[in-house]
Amino acid sequence: MTANGATPGGVPPAHDGTGAAAHRTPLIAFDPRLGPAAAAADPLSADAQQRIRERAAQVLARYPRPRSALMPLLYLVQAEQGYVSADGIRLVADILGLTTAEVTAVATFYTMYRRRPCGRYLVGVCTNTLCAILGGDAIFDALREHLGIENGETTPDGAVTLEHIECNAACDYAPVVMVNWEFFDNQTPASARELVDRLRAGDPPMPTRGAPLRTFTEISQLLAGFPDDLADAGPSAGPASLAGLELARSRGEAAPPFPTENAPREEGA
Ligand code: FES
Repeated sequence: MTANGATPGGVPPAHDGTGAAAHRTPLIAFDPRLGPAAAAADPLSADAQQRIRERAAQVLARYPRPRSALMPLLYLVQAEQGYVSADGIRLVADILGLTTAEVTAVATFYTMYRRRPCGRYLVGVCTNTLCAILGGDAIFDALREHLGIENGETTPDGAVTLEHIECNAACDYAPVVMVNWEFFDNQTPASARELVDRLRAGDPPMPTRGAPLRTFTEISQLLAGFPDDLADAGPSAGPASLAGLELARSRGEAAPPFPTENAPREEGA
């Protein structure tokens, strides 16, 4: 065992909240529907652990309590592995002094943490009500057929993972497709097929709105709190999203001032 508690070539033993090492057993039961990749042992290398620990130290410095850094640290693991593995959960638990159960509870609650390997581009087709009736269901079916994969699966070249997504608050541009959480608006089955073909060819198009596309691991690092200064490099909100704002401005209307300690919110405001 090393000075930081790591076993050679493995992850440090997880804490049980009292500082004692917990018994290391597999945390995630193998689900045969997830395929062999999900069951394969995929330990974080010593180098990867070191990178995560170094970046984690920067994240921890931003918070008053270590456990507040849990979500960014899970993104750091995802940035290394393309998903949050059981080893990643043990490492995060060790860094934060949490139990693996506590870390697992968060990693399994939020859908932006992937629990099995993800492709370079996570293609999410909104099939929530408005997008669905305007063509989202047809787009999803077209991509399933075109790519030869089902919901949650990845193309054999590792380029595209396809999934249903819920409303991304872009209903004014329905039906929308998200690639690594950037918007591709007003899609059709044909435009979506062309989109994934370009992703697989290594020629990612610019999103309709948002920053230039980055890979899934790059975007995970960004979400961990390490900006790449590209946030304003692409188109911002479009006219449909700003219609209400423009109307209010033309009428001279404005939102009431935000209440402060000296000027509390008025009754009924
Ligand atoms: S229903 Fe698809 S973005 Fe809202």
